Amino acid sequence: MIIAVDGPTASGKGTIAKALAAHFGLPHLDTGLLYRAVGRQVMLAGGNPDDQHDALAACDFDDHLLDEDILRSEEVGGFASRVSVHPAVRHALYERQRAFATQDSGAVLDGRDIGTVIAPEAPVKLFVTASVQERARRRWLEMTGRGIDVALAAIERDIAARDARDMNRADAPLMAAPDALVIDTTHFGRDAAIEAAIEAVAARLIAPR
Ligand code: DC
Repeated sequence: MIIAVDGPTASGKGTIAKALAAHFGLPHLDTGLLYRAVGRQVMLAGGNPDDQHDALAACDFDDHLLDEDILRSEEVGGFASRVSVHPAVRHALYERQRAFATQDSGAVLDGRDIGTVIAPEAPVKLFVTASVQERARRRWLEMTGRGIDVALAAIERDIAARDARDMNRADAPLMAAPDALVIDTTHFGRDAAIEAAIEAVAARLIAPR
């Protein structure tokens, strides 16, 4: 069984995907990490993420990059969003994601285009979202908790810019697949959101489309 979990940044999609993988005993791939690794590689090479050639050259990143904590930073997230606009980059990362999705055990993948492009045949698709303000608040709490001094308004601006870029790109824009179940976590705590997702998947398993 393939479970596709898509949604914007800080919506809770990663937390939900991880919990679903643990609950249903499936391997999990955070596909954003692949784009983050490309963004990081562009940074390391001193390239320009908006330049297609620089971004494509960075797709040949060393896998050890995927384990680096710095991939989770806001700066690398911004670079990831910029390199992800290029169709050639998306194409270069496609096979890796597709192979993960179609392994015999089944899989959970989270990202922006899993239900629409990477695994449109997935029997279960979730689109996890939340208001920009709530997502900014979560990111701010997480960052200040790590001792990073940052203004809430600046984070809100960054998130809105990232949403706009991810939703308006021509190739595989962020959007809910027509058959995705939308889970809005704005007013949900972590546990309630996970519970809603598990229930949704279980319901799909009992009554497949
Ligand atoms: O989920 P994330 O914040 O780690 O993703 C970082 C960026 O990578 C995101 O802004 C857009 C891009 N991305 C993508 O285009 N397609 C995916 N399947 C996953 C991420």
